[in-house]
Amino acid sequence: MSAQTLFQPTQLGNLTLANHLVMAPMTRNRATVGHDVTDIMADYYAQRAGAGLIVTEGIGPSKNGTGYARIPGLYTQAQIAGWKAVTAAVHEQGGKIFAQLMNTGRVAHPVHMDEGAEVLAPSALAAAGQIYTDTLGMQNHPTPREFTTEEVKAAIQEFVQAAKNAIEAGFDGVELHGANGYLIEQFLRPTTNQRTDEYGGSVENRARFALEATEAVSKAIGVEKTGIRLSPYGVFNDMPYDPAYDEAYAYLAEHLNGKVVYIHLVDHTSMGAPAVEEKIIEVIREKFKGTLILSGGYDKARAEEALQSGKADLIAIGRPFLANPDLVERLKTDAPLNAPDFTTFYTPGEKGYTDYPVLAEVEA
Ligand SMILES: Cc1cc2nc3c(=O)[nH]c(=O)nc-3n(C[C@H](O)[C@H](O)[C@H](O)COP(=O)(O)O)c2cc1C
Repeated sequence: MSAQTLFQPTQLGNLTLANHLVMAPMTRNRATVGHDVTDIMADYYAQRAGAGLIVTEGIGPSKNGTGYARIPGLYTQAQIAGWKAVTAAVHEQGGKIFAQLMNTGRVAHPVHMDEGAEVLAPSALAAAGQIYTDTLGMQNHPTPREFTTEEVKAAIQEFVQAAKNAIEAGFDGVELHGANGYLIEQFLRPTTNQRTDEYGGSVENRARFALEATEAVSKAIGVEKTGIRLSPYGVFNDMPYDPAYDEAYAYLAEHLNGKVVYIHLVDHTSMGAPAVEEKIIEVIREKFKGTLILSGGYDKARAEEALQSGKADLIAIGRPFLANPDLVERLKTDAPLNAPDFTTFYTPGEKGYTDYPVLAEVEA
């Protein structure tokens, strides 16, 4: 891909994006207790439609995969209807939007989950530390039940059904959340996957879940509508990293060709995580022939630099988008940015969600 500037339009598969900036997925916990979409979610995303592409917050693909308080799902008719309002509002503003499908796996608490749901994971190993709950405060992470092999295959089909639901709801595509310690990464890493069936053990076996899920989803909705997010060197949710895992990410990058339109890499150095080795980014870039999105701590200068040097095709920005609905305009004109209010990242309601001012309001 030729070197372009941030604000020029670009292609992602068949989709024309207005610019090279992606709004990074951010969980905001503004859904209902029952994981339904709320009206303010449509407002929030429509306000941010200036992004070339929005990737939504992590969305539960099934009741077993929806383990946090007030995160939305995409597995009931009501949820599909709720998301239709969101995608329509974004499209009305000229934006494009992918749904991030996040099966929380072991990072879940039963108190948040629908009736009959269960905390399932590759192995019966609890994450260290605690999880926030609305009704019980901080709680130890529960010990998940280990999936049977049949249930692993069923979890792949849940991603497929949720992806079909996403298309029905008007999304332009889906991003499978393979980062940050959620289910796909729980399969990928040996610290959370001690299975002895074909989904555990070797690199090939630990990558099988991610590859079968992306293959099945892309067959159902199209490769050009399927992306994946990965976090080599990520440690969030008790996922200690060992450089030996680089091999798994290199293997994945190679085998994701033909299954996804993009790989979206996470770098949480700006949030206190260890630095992502340049080497692994280069290896992924070399092995994967599709679009590469980089994220984590990007400002305009770094983003331009990553595009110009050919290191990335698109740049995802998180917290600045959260706090600046008109971020693209502000970056274009080098205008000052609103600071994000950390205290309202995950709280219900409009405060710290839909009430961040655009530049004209700040100036007035
Ligand atoms: C409030 C908040 C919620 C987040 N939720 C998600 C999420 O649901 N899925 C995900 O992949 N990353 C999530 N992230 C990580 C961001 O996508 C991004 O990688 C991170 O904020 C670093 O980028 P930044 O420096 O541009 O903010 C979240 C980050 C924040 C601040």
